[in-house]
Amino acid sequence: MADISVKFCGLEFPNPVMTAAGPGAKDGDLCLEAVKGGAGGIVTKTVSVKPADVPRPCMGNTKSGFLNTELWSEHTIEHWLEVEYKKARQADVPLIIGMGYTADQIEKVAPMVKPYADAVELSTHYVGTDVSPIVNALKVAKKHLDVPVFMKMSPHTDIQTIAKAVEKIGADGLVMINSFGPVMSIDLETGLPIMGSKTGYGWLSGLPIHPLAVRCIYDASKVVDIPIIGVGGVTNGREAAEMFMAGASAVQVCTEAILKGPSIYGKIAQELNDFLDEHGYKDINEIKGLTHKKIDERQFRITSIPPTVDHDKCVKCGICENVCVYDAIAVKDKWEVDKEECFGCGLCVTECPTDALSIPYR
Ligand SMILES: Cc1cc2nc3c(=O)[nH]c(=O)nc-3n(C[C@H](O)[C@H](O)[C@H](O)COP(=O)(O)O)c2cc1C
Repeated sequence: MADISVKFCGLEFPNPVMTAAGPGAKDGDLCLEAVKGGAGGIVTKTVSVKPADVPRPCMGNTKSGFLNTELWSEHTIEHWLEVEYKKARQADVPLIIGMGYTADQIEKVAPMVKPYADAVELSTHYVGTDVSPIVNALKVAKKHLDVPVFMKMSPHTDIQTIAKAVEKIGADGLVMINSFGPVMSIDLETGLPIMGSKTGYGWLSGLPIHPLAVRCIYDASKVVDIPIIGVGGVTNGREAAEMFMAGASAVQVCTEAILKGPSIYGKIAQELNDFLDEHGYKDINEIKGLTHKKIDERQFRITSIPPTVDHDKCVKCGICENVCVYDAIAVKDKWEVDKEECFGCGLCVTECPTDALSIPYR
């Protein structure tokens, strides 16, 4: 069995799958449930100086992704201090306290959460995309705290510039990405947005933002040496593995835990373990940043290499033929490709339900 424990910034996680700041960690009981369900670390819902006035409805799942307009915790920070952090502390995994947002707010919040935090996660979501307010909030957090400070980044910022700036000021790690947006979804019966915010806008999370998160992790890990915790559309162990290959040191799960409940953390950790075992990797370090190493070996090409088929796996479903806009595939008695017509686009490979097709990604 592969070793999926991870260690960074002096914190030891039995596995690298944590809760994310969100409904799955909105109070102490849920944090404990998450650990029971297999989470290797807890990140609590973001708290700020005032409880959030959350517009309703504030969550909705659509075919194209999960929308929310939840802001931060609706509990007062005093309530978190008196009740929720005490409960969450009973778990024997690291407790990372989510807090936000501006330097003035962090001046008040950081000393309050300090006694409970193994580390803090400082959300940059509502301080804009400029470097200076983000860096200023971090400076204040570092002034008050002697535990690791992780900066949670939104996807629409200039990731590399901000990543470098916060590393320089002393951020101990990055968390990326927060939900993407604003976005909008409309109820067709009423013509009204499904989110109750004044604008009708919400923020997108879940699987559709996974490739965006992977790209952000990949880009940031090119320019910083501090650990990166990946979050965004992790629904299974393979998506977690992808984040490690892009350069992450751990992952968080928000939307999938809302939809599937706390047992999802352990399930994802187990699937990650299985993935490593199946591929002969002995621990996570063997895949961490793998894409950075591999991409240099890749030969950029503008020529076609047609797919090859594993006839034993091909069930002749015809999906590849349907999606081939070059009319290069025929599935009759057996699967065939017209090598002259094939553009080498790769779509048939990703659409094949039985993994019977392959092309070299080199
Ligand atoms: C309903 C909901 C509430 C959230 N609340 C917070 C929050 O309080 N603080 C924060 O930093 N991120 C918050 N997030 C963002 C998540 O922590 C996470 O970054 C994002 O949803 C992407 O991960 P996912 O695809 O696994 O959900 C929230 C997300 C959702 C869906």
